[in-house]
Amino acid sequence: MLYKTYLNRLSKAALTVGFSTCSRATNEAFLCEMLHVHAQSHKTMAKTKFEYVRQFEADDTCLQNCWVVVRLDGRNFHKFANLHDFRKPNDERALRLMTRSALTVMEELNDIVIAYGQSDEYSFVFKKKSNWFKRRASKFMSHVVSQFSSSFVFYWKDYFKDQALLFPPGFDGRVILYPSNQNLRDYLSWRQADCHINNLYNTTFWALVQQGGLTNSEAEEKLKVDESVDKKVITPDAPEGKNVVVKRIRKKVLPFHVDIIGDKFWEEHSEILADDS
Ligand code: GTP
Ligand code: MG
Repeated sequence: MLYKTYLNRLSKAALTVGFSTCSRATNEAFLCEMLHVHAQSHKTMAKTKFEYVRQFEADDTCLQNCWVVVRLDGRNFHKFANLHDFRKPNDERALRLMTRSALTVMEELNDIVIAYGQSDEYSFVFKKKSNWFKRRASKFMSHVVSQFSSSFVFYWKDYFKDQALLFPPGFDGRVILYPSNQNLRDYLSWRQADCHINNLYNTTFWALVQQGGLTNSEAEEKLKVDESVDKKVITPDAPEGKNVVVKRIRKKVLPFHVDIIGDKFWEEHSEILADDS
């Protein structure tokens, strides 16, 4: 119950028992005292009778000495992309907005050492020794997802100038623990390989439709038999990685569009996997 409503009810009750003879100031002081007593008795009750419900809360502490990865993913973005007229296969505005939202997450939340994103997903890596919110998985996940979602909406107009946001987008989230540096690197490599496979497929698919004049199902059929094409792109020297010159400034979060499967990135940024992470 809201405080004001409660105070009004108490006032009425006080009037019916002849409390009106006192001054207004005395009335208010008395009511505050009543409220205080009432609150105290509720507190006591909460401790004795109701507090056991706390035991129903699951312990979701993340295992010590593991990298904590939170991956979020746009809910039903196939539909969201169509309704907001995303360019095919890649909408630069959407990708930049995703990265802007990820930057906010990295700036606002503690202990994130690297984030990697593609399409409608982003992964955030918390350092091994993070003790943020006592390593509770639900805290890691809910803070990342809510900060990302609100930023996505907040910055929408900066990227989609003529395209109104038609309905509130949603993102799901999950937490994954990786005990070794190699596991973490393999995880990030997996996401990058996924990005290349999907991109190659989508680029080829839309080229067949838009430039080749095939119907959607004809293009899909054609790509189904041509499996070797998918595999060719999973190489460390993917083209986006080149010619990105960024001055390294400690503590500043910067977007890179580089290969993270090969060793080069990890050698140049050895601080990410450093022992004290
Ligand atoms: P759930 O994640 O299961 O809710 O479904 P989803 O529809 O979001 O599918 P998924 O996450 O597997 O894939 C993301 C989808 O978003 C892609 O299949 C595309 O349809 C769409 N998408 C993401 N980025 C772009 C883009 O840059 N351009 C276009 N046209 N579509 C995109
Ligand atoms: Mg999705």
